[in-house]
Amino acid sequence: MAVVTIPAGVADPAPEQARAWCEQLEAGDILYFPETPVPLDADDTSFLLGQQQTDSSLHKNIAYKPNIDKLSGFDAKTASPAAVERLHGIMRKYSQTVTAFLTRFLSPYQANWQLDYASFRPQEEQGRDLPLRRRNDLLHTDAFPTRPTHGARILRFFNNIHPARTRDWVVSDPFAETVRQFAPKEIAPQPGSVLGRAGKAAARAVGLGAAIPSLKRSPYDDFMMRFHNFLKENPRWQAECAKYPFQFPAGSSWMVYTDTVPHAVLAGQYALEQTFLVRPQAMVRPEVSPLRVLEEIAQARLA
Ligand SMILES: [Fe+2]
Repeated sequence: MAVVTIPAGVADPAPEQARAWCEQLEAGDILYFPETPVPLDADDTSFLLGQQQTDSSLHKNIAYKPNIDKLSGFDAKTASPAAVERLHGIMRKYSQTVTAFLTRFLSPYQANWQLDYASFRPQEEQGRDLPLRRRNDLLHTDAFPTRPTHGARILRFFNNIHPARTRDWVVSDPFAETVRQFAPKEIAPQPGSVLGRAGKAAARAVGLGAAIPSLKRSPYDDFMMRFHNFLKENPRWQAECAKYPFQFPAGSSWMVYTDTVPHAVLAGQYALEQTFLVRPQAMVRPEVSPLRVLEEIAQARLA
């Protein structure tokens, strides 16, 4: 796993370079921009830095859903309509700007993705009091409880908009290496069903917990959700796994496949983020995707 520094001013890389960066992303590297390629207006930044969240247990993030142009997560009781409108406008613009940038920067994908949520993360990450499965300071790979991807990859682009402080991450070895640290037979996803009876028993036996009710999840989604919980609930792995710390400076951006790279955020405040669900057929190295890795372990199609 590596942090790949992208030179300033590269918006339209040559096709071979763009393809190489896609390959590195897919293999579990982080692409890091010391100076963000998608800077906010100074007054928009000031506005965001002035926002206070009132209830951390209820509002983990401000979320923006670009496909329906909807903002959620703010405290409707205390926020003024004008402030909500302003925040909405900033998030809409951020989402559009990041999307336009990545459409050119990751040209091999040809925007073959589903635009997912953007978020504003105004809270201090150090010492947050969250239920274990929602903690950000425990290493985990991402999976969304309510948004199955059916094999699409979770690509996230971040901005640290804090005026001075770093955003402190630690990451571990990519999915293919991490998942193989556990007994493959026991954690293998069960093809053709959410998890068969034997699969449920095996999952409990290795601490993967009771079956999660699955609506329209594929076996792949079911596994990825379970694996997210399994990693967070595994104190031995948390303590003993390889750890690579990285502090993203104020004003920087970075992007990473967060379903692939186990990550935790230990400290930092004020970040923006846009998520893309990149379709399997867009991958330039499909063989290293979590879907393919799991299908090889399970010897079956999972999505
Ligand atoms: Fe995460």
